[in-house]
Amino acid sequence: MKVITVDLDERSYPIYIGASMLVDAALINKQITSKQILIVTNETIAPLYLHVIENNLSGVDYDVLILPDGERFKSVDSLNLIITRLIERKFNRTCLLIALGGGVIGDLTGFAAACYQRGVKFMQIPTTLLAQVDSSMGGKTAINHPLGKNMIGAFYQPCAVFADTTVLGSLPDRELLAGLAEIIKYGLIRDKAFYEWLEANMSLLIDRDNDALTYAIERSCLNKVAVVVQDERETGIRATLNLGHTFGHAIETALSYKEWLHGEAVGCGMLMAADLSMRLGFIGQAQVDRIKSLLERAQLPTKIHKNIKLEQMLENMKVDKKSKEGVLYLVLLDDIGDAIITADYTRQALTETINYFLG
Ligand code: NAD
Ligand code: GLY
Repeated sequence: MKVITVDLDERSYPIYIGASMLVDAALINKQITSKQILIVTNETIAPLYLHVIENNLSGVDYDVLILPDGERFKSVDSLNLIITRLIERKFNRTCLLIALGGGVIGDLTGFAAACYQRGVKFMQIPTTLLAQVDSSMGGKTAINHPLGKNMIGAFYQPCAVFADTTVLGSLPDRELLAGLAEIIKYGLIRDKAFYEWLEANMSLLIDRDNDALTYAIERSCLNKVAVVVQDERETGIRATLNLGHTFGHAIETALSYKEWLHGEAVGCGMLMAADLSMRLGFIGQAQVDRIKSLLERAQLPTKIHKNIKLEQMLENMKVDKKSKEGVLYLVLLDDIGDAIITADYTRQALTETINYFLG
């Protein structure tokens, strides 16, 4: 088992990475200091893993909230269900929320923890690859608004993260591939050696080789944590973790969060960011081709969904948290392994990129 510490002074916490950790009651209980616990999960994950967590909680007053599955339930209605349950159960400020699931459950439960009685503890038990390498750590919590993704949220850190690679065994292939997009992101934005490792080992990851997956998760977490501890509230460098996300969120919003997975949209968005970087002269065509090739090997989409229009993309991109005083900053590439945050692009180049991907 590997342990990575997210070093944020009094908000520091461990990320545990390894196989079969969730059956280790002693390990989990070490992080449970509360006597009132609400486990939040969904109807897909509950039948698979809820009993494993429950077995660790003997003698504790715990309750379970099982939500419907899907991005559209990362909503104010689901938030209300969590808060209502906590109030009904008379849970107080020392309670603990456990998020058992992927990024949807993690973001939603984290935000509920940030809101309930002005902030209670929460623990992340990420069960998707995407959540294990990205959403479960770093403290971004949120719900969606019909007009924009993650528009309501808070920076609020968990007290511990348990990334058990064994649970990835039940993850559908498409979800695993979506997680690979965020892994590729770390190579692209700040870790060229890891990017090269991914080029050499992509087939092992797709075949779910446990050693390769564990290494990729650990290296991704190390990259993410290194950025988060420098810029927890995203005043600067943390925005690089959003490579491809401005394009990706615009795609997801245009599709009402239904047809594409978040990781798929991010994968396509990263290639769009590379294409725009090339049009602006920051990188060459050979680097764009290299990125496209790795995304294709990860079986991620490299063209925008056919139902989306240029104007829709441009309009949706304006609703982005990287906009400052009406100027949209984008994360682009100066090289593989080197991201920049810039508003130094032309509308014409941006339009050309989008039109090219609408194809
Ligand atoms: P998800 O939470 O919807 O999970 C994907 C699917 O896999 C769901 O159907 C889920 O029920 C199922 N599932 C989860 N674990 C499983 C398992 N072990 N076996 C079988 N099925 C399983 O999606 P996701 O990709 O994990 O997360 C996407 C969300 O994360 C988006 O809302 C995105 O905005 C958010 N996100 C947040 C951050 C952050 O920093 N907070 C970063 C990246 C993404
Ligand atoms: N997933 C982007 C971030 O945590 O900043």
